[in-house]
Amino acid sequence: MNYRQLGSTGLEISEVGFGTWGIGKSAWLGAEDNESVRALHRAIDLGLNFIDTALAYGEGHSEKLIGQVLRERDETVYVATKVPPSNLEWPARPGLRVEEIFPGAYIKECTQTSLKNLGLETIDVQQFHVWQDEWVGEGDWLEAVDDLKKEGKIRFFGVSTNDHEPHNAIRLIETGVIDIVQVIYNVFDQGSEDKLLPLCQERGVGVIVRVPFDEGGLTGTITPDTEFEEGDFRNDYFRGERKREVYERVRRIARGLGIEEDKIPEIALRYILSHPVVSTVIPGMRSVRNVERNMAVADGKGLLTEQVQKLKEHRWVRNFYPGFRD
Ligand SMILES: NC(=O)c1ccc[n+]([C@@H]2O[C@H](COP(=O)([O-])OP(=O)(O)OC[C@H]3O[C@@H](n4cnc5c(N)ncnc54)[C@H](OP(=O)(O)O)[C@@H]3O)[C@@H](O)[C@H]2O)c1
Repeated sequence: MNYRQLGSTGLEISEVGFGTWGIGKSAWLGAEDNESVRALHRAIDLGLNFIDTALAYGEGHSEKLIGQVLRERDETVYVATKVPPSNLEWPARPGLRVEEIFPGAYIKECTQTSLKNLGLETIDVQQFHVWQDEWVGEGDWLEAVDDLKKEGKIRFFGVSTNDHEPHNAIRLIETGVIDIVQVIYNVFDQGSEDKLLPLCQERGVGVIVRVPFDEGGLTGTITPDTEFEEGDFRNDYFRGERKREVYERVRRIARGLGIEEDKIPEIALRYILSHPVVSTVIPGMRSVRNVERNMAVADGKGLLTEQVQKLKEHRWVRNFYPGFRD
Protein backbone atom coordinates (compact mmCIF):
# COMPACT_ATOMS: atom_id res chain seq x y z
CA MET A 1 0.00 0.00 0.00
CA ASN A 2 1.35 3.38 -0.99
CA TYR A 3 0.62 6.33 1.32
CA ARG A 4 0.42 10.06 0.56
CA GLN A 5 0.22 13.27 2.58
CA LEU A 6 -3.27 14.67 3.10
CA GLY A 7 -2.31 18.24 2.21
CA SER A 8 -0.69 19.99 5.18
CA THR A 9 -2.58 18.03 7.83
CA GLY A 10 0.37 15.79 8.62
CA LEU A 11 -1.86 12.72 8.10
CA GLU A 12 -0.30 10.06 5.89
CA ILE A 13 -3.16 8.24 4.22
CA SER A 14 -3.52 5.31 1.86
CA GLU A 15 -3.68 6.50 -1.74
CA VAL A 16 -6.78 4.35 -2.16
CA GLY A 17 -9.41 4.99 0.50
CA PHE A 18 -12.85 3.48 1.08
CA GLY A 19 -15.96 5.17 -0.35
CA THR A 20 -18.98 4.14 1.72
CA TRP A 21 -22.04 5.72 0.11
CA GLY A 22 -23.10 2.32 -1.26
CA ILE A 23 -22.87 0.43 2.04
CA GLY A 24 -25.29 2.95 3.56
CA LYS A 25 -28.03 1.37 1.43
CA SER A 26 -29.92 4.59 0.74
CA ALA A 27 -29.60 5.68 -2.90
CA TRP A 28 -27.60 2.57 -3.81
CA LEU A 29 -29.50 -0.66 -3.31
CA GLY A 30 -28.13 -4.17 -3.03
CA ALA A 31 -25.43 -3.95 -0.35
CA GLU A 32 -25.43 -6.60 2.36
CA ASP A 33 -24.17 -5.57 5.78
CA ASN A 34 -22.19 -8.77 6.40
CA GLU A 35 -20.30 -8.38 3.13
CA SER A 36 -19.85 -4.62 3.69
CA VAL A 37 -18.25 -5.36 7.08
CA ARG A 38 -16.04 -8.06 5.55
CA ALA A 39 -15.01 -5.63 2.81
CA LEU A 40 -14.03 -2.95 5.35
CA HIS A 41 -11.99 -5.48 7.37
CA ARG A 42 -10.26 -6.78 4.25
CA ALA A 43 -9.34 -3.26 3.16
CA ILE A 44 -7.76 -2.55 6.56
CA ASP A 45 -5.94 -5.91 6.40
CA LEU A 46 -4.46 -4.71 3.11
CA GLY A 47 -3.21 -1.43 4.58
CA LEU A 48 -6.09 0.97 3.86
CA ASN A 49 -6.27 3.69 6.53
CA PHE A 50 -8.74 6.23 5.15
CA ILE A 51 -12.53 5.89 5.03
CA ASP A 52 -14.95 8.48 3.67
CA THR A 53 -18.53 8.46 4.91
CA ALA A 54 -21.39 10.87 5.62
CA LEU A 55 -24.16 11.23 8.17
CA ALA A 56 -26.59 11.15 5.24
CA TYR A 57 -25.49 7.71 3.96
CA GLY A 58 -28.43 5.62 5.12
CA GLU A 59 -29.12 8.17 7.87
CA GLY A 60 -26.05 7.04 9.80
CA HIS A 61 -26.05 3.39 8.70
CA SER A 62 -22.74 3.71 6.86
CA GLU A 63 -21.16 5.44 9.89
CA LYS A 64 -22.49 2.73 12.23
CA LEU A 65 -21.01 -0.09 10.13
CA ILE A 66 -17.65 1.70 10.12
CA GLY A 67 -17.89 2.16 13.90
CA GLN A 68 -18.59 -1.56 14.31
CA VAL A 69 -15.48 -2.44 12.29
CA LEU A 70 -13.20 0.11 13.97
CA ARG A 71 -14.11 -1.20 17.43
CA GLU A 72 -12.68 -4.56 16.35
CA ARG A 73 -9.40 -3.13 14.99
CA ASP A 74 -6.24 -1.81 16.63
CA GLU A 75 -4.87 -0.09 13.53
CA THR A 76 -5.07 3.67 13.08
CA VAL A 77 -7.76 4.36 10.50
CA TYR A 78 -8.66 7.96 9.64
CA VAL A 79 -12.33 8.72 9.12
CA ALA A 80 -13.80 11.58 7.12
CA THR A 81 -17.51 12.26 7.42
CA LYS A 82 -19.90 15.01 6.31
CA VAL A 83 -22.55 17.36 7.66
CA PRO A 84 -25.61 17.17 5.40
CA PRO A 85 -27.18 20.43 4.20
CA SER A 86 -30.08 21.24 6.57
CA ASN A 87 -32.54 21.33 3.64
CA LEU A 88 -31.32 17.85 2.53
CA GLU A 89 -30.92 19.07 -1.05
CA TRP A 90 -28.01 18.04 -3.22
CA PRO A 91 -26.41 19.96 -4.87
CA ALA A 92 -26.63 23.33 -3.09
CA ARG A 93 -28.41 25.80 -5.34
CA PRO A 94 -27.06 29.33 -5.67
CA GLY A 95 -28.99 31.99 -3.76
CA LEU A 96 -29.43 29.97 -0.55
CA ARG A 97 -28.25 31.49 2.75
CA VAL A 98 -25.52 29.58 4.60
CA GLU A 99 -27.15 30.72 7.88
CA GLU A 100 -30.00 28.39 6.90
CA ILE A 101 -28.07 25.54 5.28
CA PHE A 102 -25.19 25.26 7.79
CA PRO A 103 -26.07 27.14 11.01
CA GLY A 104 -23.40 26.74 13.71
CA ALA A 105 -25.63 24.91 16.22
CA TYR A 106 -26.71 22.45 13.51
CA ILE A 107 -23.09 21.70 12.52
CA LYS A 108 -22.30 20.89 16.16
CA GLU A 109 -25.39 18.72 16.55
CA CYS A 110 -24.62 16.71 13.37
CA THR A 111 -21.00 16.26 14.46
CA GLN A 112 -22.18 14.92 17.81
CA THR A 113 -24.48 12.42 16.04
CA SER A 114 -21.67 11.26 13.74
CA LEU A 115 -19.31 10.80 16.71
CA LYS A 116 -21.95 8.63 18.36
CA ASN A 117 -22.61 6.59 15.19
CA LEU A 118 -18.89 6.05 14.66
CA GLY A 119 -18.17 5.38 18.34
CA LEU A 120 -15.26 7.84 18.18
CA GLU A 121 -14.14 10.74 20.35
CA THR A 122 -12.70 12.68 17.41
CA ILE A 123 -13.54 12.85 13.73
CA ASP A 124 -10.35 13.19 11.71
CA VAL A 125 -11.93 15.12 8.84
CA GLN A 126 -15.32 16.82 9.00
CA GLN A 127 -16.72 18.11 5.69
CA PHE A 128 -19.76 20.03 4.49
CA HIS A 129 -21.66 17.76 2.12
CA VAL A 130 -22.32 20.65 -0.32
CA TRP A 131 -20.75 24.04 -0.85
CA GLN A 132 -21.41 27.38 -2.56
CA ASP A 133 -18.53 29.84 -2.80
CA GLU A 134 -20.90 32.76 -2.20
CA TRP A 135 -21.00 31.52 1.45
CA VAL A 136 -17.42 32.69 2.11
CA GLY A 137 -17.49 35.24 4.93
CA GLU A 138 -21.20 34.64 5.69
CA GLY A 139 -22.93 32.98 8.65
CA ASP A 140 -21.39 31.45 11.80
CA TRP A 141 -20.20 28.16 10.31
CA LEU A 142 -16.51 29.01 10.64
CA GLU A 143 -16.85 29.80 14.35
CA ALA A 144 -18.61 26.46 14.84
CA VAL A 145 -15.81 24.64 13.00
CA ASP A 146 -13.18 26.42 15.12
CA ASP A 147 -15.06 25.51 18.31
CA LEU A 148 -15.26 21.85 17.26
CA LYS A 149 -11.52 21.84 16.59
CA LYS A 150 -10.76 23.46 19.98
CA GLU A 151 -13.03 20.95 21.74
CA GLY A 152 -11.16 18.10 20.02
CA LYS A 153 -14.31 16.83 18.31
CA ILE A 154 -12.84 17.28 14.83
CA ARG A 155 -9.22 17.54 13.73
CA PHE A 156 -9.50 18.90 10.19
CA PHE A 157 -12.21 20.49 8.07
CA GLY A 158 -13.10 20.87 4.42
CA VAL A 159 -15.92 20.76 1.91
CA SER A 160 -17.21 18.31 -0.64
CA THR A 161 -17.82 20.38 -3.75
CA ASN A 162 -21.03 20.26 -5.75
CA ASP A 163 -20.99 17.63 -8.52
CA HIS A 164 -18.90 18.75 -11.52
CA GLU A 165 -18.31 22.22 -10.03
CA PRO A 166 -14.62 22.25 -9.08
CA HIS A 167 -14.55 26.04 -9.61
CA ASN A 168 -17.12 26.40 -6.82
CA ALA A 169 -14.58 26.16 -3.98
CA ILE A 170 -11.81 28.35 -5.35
CA ARG A 171 -12.71 31.42 -3.26
CA LEU A 172 -12.99 29.26 -0.15
CA ILE A 173 -9.57 27.70 -0.68
CA GLU A 174 -8.08 31.15 -1.26
CA THR A 175 -9.30 32.24 2.20
CA GLY A 176 -7.03 29.56 3.70
CA VAL A 177 -9.62 28.19 6.17
CA ILE A 178 -9.99 24.64 4.87
CA ASP A 179 -7.61 21.72 5.20
CA ILE A 180 -9.05 19.49 2.48
CA VAL A 181 -11.42 19.51 -0.45
CA GLN A 182 -13.38 16.58 -1.88
CA VAL A 183 -14.02 16.66 -5.64
CA ILE A 184 -15.17 14.56 -8.56
CA TYR A 185 -12.14 13.88 -10.74
CA ASN A 186 -12.02 11.03 -13.24
CA VAL A 187 -11.27 10.16 -16.87
CA PHE A 188 -14.56 11.76 -17.97
CA ASP A 189 -14.59 14.75 -15.58
CA GLN A 190 -11.09 16.22 -15.77
CA GLY A 191 -12.27 19.72 -14.82
CA SER A 192 -10.39 19.80 -11.48
CA GLU A 193 -7.09 19.81 -13.35
CA ASP A 194 -7.72 23.29 -14.73
CA LYS A 195 -7.68 25.45 -11.59
CA LEU A 196 -8.60 23.51 -8.47
CA LEU A 197 -5.73 21.00 -8.28
CA PRO A 198 -2.98 23.60 -9.01
CA LEU A 199 -4.48 25.86 -6.32
CA CYS A 200 -4.60 22.99 -3.81
CA GLN A 201 -0.95 22.31 -4.53
CA GLU A 202 -0.03 25.96 -3.99
CA ARG A 203 -2.02 26.16 -0.72
CA GLY A 204 -1.21 22.73 0.69
CA VAL A 205 -4.86 21.66 0.69
CA GLY A 206 -5.50 17.89 0.74
CA VAL A 207 -7.47 16.43 -2.19
CA ILE A 208 -9.93 13.57 -1.73
CA VAL A 209 -11.14 12.31 -5.10
CA ARG A 210 -14.64 10.87 -5.22
CA VAL A 211 -16.61 9.02 -7.93
CA PRO A 212 -13.49 7.69 -9.70
CA PHE A 213 -15.62 5.26 -11.72
CA ASP A 214 -18.33 7.77 -12.71
CA GLU A 215 -20.81 5.84 -10.52
CA GLY A 216 -19.85 2.63 -12.36
CA GLY A 217 -19.64 4.06 -15.90
CA LEU A 218 -15.85 3.77 -15.83
CA THR A 219 -15.77 0.14 -14.71
CA GLY A 220 -16.65 -1.36 -18.09
CA THR A 221 -19.60 -3.17 -16.50
CA ILE A 222 -22.36 -0.87 -17.80
CA THR A 223 -23.82 -2.09 -21.10
CA PRO A 224 -26.95 -0.94 -22.94
CA ASP A 225 -28.83 -3.83 -21.26
CA THR A 226 -27.68 -3.23 -17.66
CA GLU A 227 -30.58 -3.06 -15.21
CA PHE A 228 -30.60 -1.73 -11.66
CA GLU A 229 -33.00 -2.55 -8.82
CA GLU A 230 -36.12 -0.43 -8.70
CA GLY A 231 -35.41 2.55 -6.47
CA ASP A 232 -31.63 2.55 -7.11
CA PHE A 233 -30.47 6.06 -8.05
CA ARG A 234 -28.53 4.69 -11.02
CA ASN A 235 -31.82 4.11 -12.87
CA ASP A 236 -31.94 7.88 -13.11
CA TYR A 237 -28.19 8.51 -13.49
CA PHE A 238 -27.94 6.09 -16.43
CA ARG A 239 -31.38 6.69 -17.90
CA GLY A 240 -32.40 6.65 -21.58
CA GLU A 241 -29.52 6.34 -24.03
CA ARG A 242 -26.89 7.13 -21.40
CA LYS A 243 -25.91 3.49 -20.80
CA ARG A 244 -25.23 3.01 -24.52
CA GLU A 245 -23.23 6.23 -24.70
CA VAL A 246 -21.13 5.30 -21.65
CA TYR A 247 -20.61 1.78 -23.02
CA GLU A 248 -19.41 3.08 -26.40
CA ARG A 249 -17.09 5.63 -24.82
CA VAL A 250 -15.53 3.00 -22.53
CA ARG A 251 -14.95 0.74 -25.53
CA ARG A 252 -13.20 3.61 -27.31
CA ILE A 253 -10.96 4.19 -24.27
CA ALA A 254 -9.99 0.49 -24.20
CA ARG A 255 -9.33 0.43 -27.96
CA GLY A 256 -7.29 3.64 -27.78
CA LEU A 257 -5.03 2.21 -25.06
CA GLY A 258 -4.94 -1.27 -26.59
CA ILE A 259 -6.27 -2.91 -23.41
CA GLU A 260 -9.08 -5.31 -22.54
CA GLU A 261 -12.19 -3.74 -21.05
CA ASP A 262 -11.68 -5.55 -17.74
CA LYS A 263 -8.59 -3.34 -17.20
CA ILE A 264 -10.68 -0.17 -17.29
CA PRO A 265 -11.19 0.10 -13.47
CA GLU A 266 -7.45 -0.14 -12.89
CA ILE A 267 -6.74 2.47 -15.58
CA ALA A 268 -9.47 4.74 -14.17
CA LEU A 269 -7.83 4.70 -10.71
CA ARG A 270 -4.30 5.05 -12.08
CA TYR A 271 -5.32 8.08 -14.16
CA ILE A 272 -6.39 9.85 -10.96
CA LEU A 273 -3.37 8.72 -8.97
CA SER A 274 -1.05 9.93 -11.73
CA HIS A 275 -1.85 13.47 -10.59
CA PRO A 276 0.64 14.30 -7.81
CA VAL A 277 -1.72 16.62 -5.94
CA VAL A 278 -4.29 13.88 -5.30
CA SER A 279 -4.04 12.68 -1.68
CA THR A 280 -6.40 9.72 -1.97
CA VAL A 281 -9.03 8.30 -4.29
CA ILE A 282 -12.12 6.75 -2.66
CA PRO A 283 -13.85 4.20 -4.92
CA GLY A 284 -17.25 3.05 -3.71
CA MET A 285 -16.86 -0.57 -2.54
CA ARG A 286 -19.36 -3.06 -1.18
CA SER A 287 -17.53 -6.37 -1.64
CA VAL A 288 -14.27 -8.07 -0.71
CA ARG A 289 -13.73 -8.74 -4.42
CA ASN A 290 -13.71 -5.06 -5.38
CA VAL A 291 -11.64 -4.17 -2.32
CA GLU A 292 -8.93 -6.62 -3.37
CA ARG A 293 -8.95 -5.36 -6.95
CA ASN A 294 -8.72 -1.71 -5.95
CA MET A 295 -6.14 -2.17 -3.20
CA ALA A 296 -3.90 -3.88 -5.75
CA VAL A 297 -3.74 -0.60 -7.69
CA ALA A 298 -2.34 1.31 -4.69
CA ASP A 299 1.25 0.38 -5.50
CA GLY A 300 2.55 3.87 -6.17
CA LYS A 301 2.94 3.22 -9.88
CA GLY A 302 1.36 5.84 -12.13
CA LEU A 303 0.51 5.54 -15.81
CA LEU A 304 2.96 6.26 -18.60
CA THR A 305 2.86 9.91 -19.75
CA GLU A 306 1.60 8.80 -23.17
CA GLN A 307 -1.26 6.85 -21.56
CA VAL A 308 -2.25 9.90 -19.53
CA GLN A 309 -2.16 12.01 -22.69
CA LYS A 310 -4.40 9.53 -24.51
CA LEU A 311 -6.88 9.53 -21.62
CA LYS A 312 -7.06 13.32 -21.71
CA GLU A 313 -8.83 12.97 -25.08
CA HIS A 314 -11.76 11.32 -23.27
CA ARG A 315 -12.76 14.39 -21.23
CA TRP A 316 -16.55 14.45 -21.35
CA VAL A 317 -18.36 17.48 -19.98
CA ARG A 318 -21.87 16.61 -18.81
CA ASN A 319 -23.92 16.15 -15.64
CA PHE A 320 -26.04 13.03 -15.13
CA TYR A 321 -26.97 13.78 -11.52
CA PRO A 322 -30.60 14.44 -10.56
CA GLY A 323 -31.21 18.17 -10.34
CA PHE A 324 -29.45 18.74 -13.66
CA ARG A 325 -31.92 17.95 -16.43
CA ASP A 326 -30.60 17.79 -19.96
N1 LIG B 1 -21.26 14.69 -2.62
C1 LIG B 1 -20.39 13.87 -2.08
O1 LIG B 1 -19.71 14.20 -1.16
C2 LIG B 1 -20.25 12.48 -2.64
C3 LIG B 1 -21.02 12.07 -3.74
C4 LIG B 1 -20.80 10.81 -4.28
C5 LIG B 1 -19.83 9.99 -3.72
N2 LIG B 1 -19.09 10.39 -2.63
C6 LIG B 1 -18.07 9.52 -2.01
O2 LIG B 1 -17.26 8.97 -3.06
C7 LIG B 1 -17.31 7.53 -3.01
C8 LIG B 1 -17.15 6.95 -4.41
O3 LIG B 1 -18.21 7.31 -5.25
P1 LIG B 1 -19.39 6.31 -5.64
O4 LIG B 1 -19.37 5.16 -4.70
O5 LIG B 1 -20.62 7.10 -5.73
O6 LIG B 1 -19.03 5.87 -7.12
P2 LIG B 1 -17.78 5.20 -7.86
O7 LIG B 1 -16.69 4.95 -6.90
O8 LIG B 1 -17.49 6.04 -9.05
O9 LIG B 1 -18.41 3.85 -8.40
C9 LIG B 1 -18.86 2.84 -7.55
C10 LIG B 1 -19.21 1.63 -8.42
O10 LIG B 1 -17.99 1.07 -8.89
C11 LIG B 1 -18.03 -0.34 -8.69
N3 LIG B 1 -16.66 -0.81 -8.47
C12 LIG B 1 -15.82 -0.51 -7.46
N4 LIG B 1 -14.62 -1.11 -7.66
C13 LIG B 1 -14.73 -1.81 -8.82
C14 LIG B 1 -13.83 -2.64 -9.54
N5 LIG B 1 -12.57 -2.84 -9.15
N6 LIG B 1 -14.29 -3.23 -10.69
C15 LIG B 1 -15.54 -3.04 -11.12
N7 LIG B 1 -16.45 -2.26 -10.47
C16 LIG B 1 -16.04 -1.66 -9.33
C17 LIG B 1 -18.94 -0.57 -7.52
O11 LIG B 1 -19.39 -1.90 -7.65
P3 LIG B 1 -20.54 -2.59 -6.77
O12 LIG B 1 -21.82 -2.12 -7.42
O13 LIG B 1 -20.27 -4.04 -6.97
O14 LIG B 1 -20.37 -2.12 -5.38
C18 LIG B 1 -19.98 0.52 -7.74
O15 LIG B 1 -20.99 0.06 -8.62
C19 LIG B 1 -18.67 7.26 -2.33
O16 LIG B 1 -18.79 5.92 -1.89
C20 LIG B 1 -18.65 8.31 -1.26
O17 LIG B 1 -17.81 7.93 -0.18
C21 LIG B 1 -19.28 11.63 -2.10
